[in-house]
Amino acid sequence: MFRRHLIAGAITAAFALGGIAPAVAQDAVKVGLILPMTGPFASTGRQIEAAVRLYMAQHGTTVAGKRIELIVRDDTGTPDVTRRIAQEMIANEKVSFLAGFGLTPLALATAPLATQAKKPMIVMAAATAMITEQSPFIVRASFTLPQATVPMADWATHNGLKRVATLVSDYGPGLDAEKAFKERFARDGREVVADVRVPLRNPDFAPFLQRVADLKPDALFVFVPSGAGAQFMKQFQERGLDKTGVRLIGTGDLTDDDILNDMGEPAVGVVTTHHYSADHSSAVNKAFVKAFKAANKNARPNFMAVGGYDGMHLIYESLKATGGSTDGEKLVGAMKGMSWQSPRGPVTVEASTRELIQNIYVRKVERSDGELYNVEFATFQAVADPAKKR
Ligand code: PHB
Repeated sequence: MFRRHLIAGAITAAFALGGIAPAVAQDAVKVGLILPMTGPFASTGRQIEAAVRLYMAQHGTTVAGKRIELIVRDDTGTPDVTRRIAQEMIANEKVSFLAGFGLTPLALATAPLATQAKKPMIVMAAATAMITEQSPFIVRASFTLPQATVPMADWATHNGLKRVATLVSDYGPGLDAEKAFKERFARDGREVVADVRVPLRNPDFAPFLQRVADLKPDALFVFVPSGAGAQFMKQFQERGLDKTGVRLIGTGDLTDDDILNDMGEPAVGVVTTHHYSADHSSAVNKAFVKAFKAANKNARPNFMAVGGYDGMHLIYESLKATGGSTDGEKLVGAMKGMSWQSPRGPVTVEASTRELIQNIYVRKVERSDGELYNVEFATFQAVADPAKKR
């Protein structure tokens, strides 16, 4: 009797599953997340994937009646690999969204495919200003280097810094930062006394740091991509530059929350401008940091994680707005003008540029309870990307 019931139950369940399964498969919306999960920029991939998974755990996986299916692939930080994966995701997996893009060259390699396939492409990390101009299907959930840099130049000016040297990684975002800093700062008799570019991969900062020690500028402005700041800081200290009175300033990529604690004493007092600090004091951010740490062995989210989290918000909310339609033009149309409270603060997708309008905070590295934090002490409100023509 009992056994018969069991069998009957199993048959009913099988029928139910049989009835549901094809419908579920049909209604899946696939998100293709392409990230550097190995290689020198693996920390970016780790942070973004963790934040995307957190967003999905918190908001469920059904949106507008569709089941969200996440596909994560490692591009190792190599543009050809990113392009090949994107191609496969479009042609074979039939994804509705492309997302991720840990470095500028990876986003640039994919942009033509997004245009051709009419797929929304959510840039969660890469930050060279011109990326969004490469396809009308690109929407940025991170920031741009000019956006973070111009406030730094203004802060430097207002704080009496007159002679500044710049040091940037020699590719898109570094060149953006150098140009934005120079143009803004080199007014009113203020001077960029040296502008040096170092290779993106395996940079040796030593020769340039010697020059800086000789030039004795008031400050050194630095852009290096997320993850590379620790090596810079080590050499800065080894050359004794932390003792020479040359102030260290930069965009917040330098004092990335992911590696800040490992930098130790030389990082204390470094002033940077950026859109996100794990120390941001809003309730939304406190909840985000707490949940991120709980899900990730107490690891602290950095600005890459926030780009991933907000990128998922764009995907979920645009899908809700289209009533579940995956038409690429409709989805991007729904993202334009969208506003929300991000862990970083209030953000809006500027409709004409598909860039975020967001606060840029001035922060100083301070020690609190034995940990280092980027402590925000001033805010540039609602900054749009200064590199765009409007
Ligand atoms: C970029 O390649 O666009 C990039 C990467 C890391 C950053 C900023 C920009 O921290």
